[in-house]
Amino acid sequence: MAAHADLIEFYRSYGESSFEVDEPAYAEVCHHLGDYPGLVELIAAHDPDAQQPNLLFAAVHYLILGGAEHPLADVYAGRSNAAPAPLFADFVQSHRNEVNELLRTQRTQTNEVGRSAVLALMLQDAQRRTGLPLAWIDLGASGGLNLNVDQFRIEYRHDGQVTSTGPGDATVSLECNVRSGQPPLDDKHADIAWRVGVDRAPIDVTDDQRARWLKACLWPSKQERHERIDAAIEVARSHRPVLIEADAVAGVEAAIGHAPTDVALVMTTTWVWYYLPPETRAGVVSVLRQSERPVLWYSLEGRGVVEPLGESAGRDVIDSMIGVVVYDGAASTDAEVLGMAHPHGAWLDWY
Ligand SMILES: C[S@@+](CC[C@H](N)C(=O)[O-])C[C@H]1O[C@@H](n2cnc3c(N)ncnc32)[C@H](O)[C@@H]1O
Repeated sequence: MAAHADLIEFYRSYGESSFEVDEPAYAEVCHHLGDYPGLVELIAAHDPDAQQPNLLFAAVHYLILGGAEHPLADVYAGRSNAAPAPLFADFVQSHRNEVNELLRTQRTQTNEVGRSAVLALMLQDAQRRTGLPLAWIDLGASGGLNLNVDQFRIEYRHDGQVTSTGPGDATVSLECNVRSGQPPLDDKHADIAWRVGVDRAPIDVTDDQRARWLKACLWPSKQERHERIDAAIEVARSHRPVLIEADAVAGVEAAIGHAPTDVALVMTTTWVWYYLPPETRAGVVSVLRQSERPVLWYSLEGRGVVEPLGESAGRDVIDSMIGVVVYDGAASTDAEVLGMAHPHGAWLDWY
């Protein structure tokens, strides 16, 4: 993103499509970026990877969560209605060293617990198809919070009814509105015999600073997401997820090598495929094809991101596609779109 004009336009259109509905303060900053040449300069001085709006917002949010005193903190906490863009530009200016350091060293790793509402259905679907307990590899697991899905209570609302899955005394509870279709709802979580996460930069949530980074990647106004992630971090501190630190191809290969053999092998990706370059995607698919046993790959990704699933008619650009691709040796591959969902699992349409 060489030219500043391109950067300003990128932020403007990203803000409109990603933040306007759910995080208006971020949308405002994106919309007015061009009014703050110093801020544009600072962003433009970084690698293209680090110029992503979500990373800049996470860096600033991280410093505010760490106690940085500034009027922007009151806007984020909902205590002030001041215009966010000038305060944001001023915050970055007055904390430029810390912001630059975070842009250099961190990447956004949003670990969204709400996606467990969709993951739970995927795992139940896998168990129903195979009739077996599961060996589960979550590629791009971040802090591994969703690997504890079976510790969570999930309420699916459909046709005026509620189906609840998971322990009644769970400290993490999720709600998912089934807008259409009939997903295979069950009051029991799938039987997960073995599970592991793979991530090139796994987050150890027992480290308070790393847990703060996970929270910083969430948007500030969404209080319920913050409460949910706090509860999920606590669960992960007592049920420590096993995370392999590796790039996707090597990590999935190693995980398949360690998986027990008398169970069905499942890989999931939720908002991960999008971040993988073409050669990494091809490498992971090749590992799945070469597996000596069938692998079911369930995904929750943006529309058209998972190539074997193709495009699909969702209602909104932000909709995510739920799909399964079954690899059973090089010769046979089945791909099926199962539905569409809110990217954080708030609702789903099951096909
Ligand atoms: C947006 S986060 C999604 C986290 C989680 N799946 C969720 O839905 O909450 C994407 C994750 O993918 C990981 N990731 C990105 N590229 C990767 C790669 N090449 N190999 C392994 N992990 C990768 C990142 O480190 C990050 O934790």
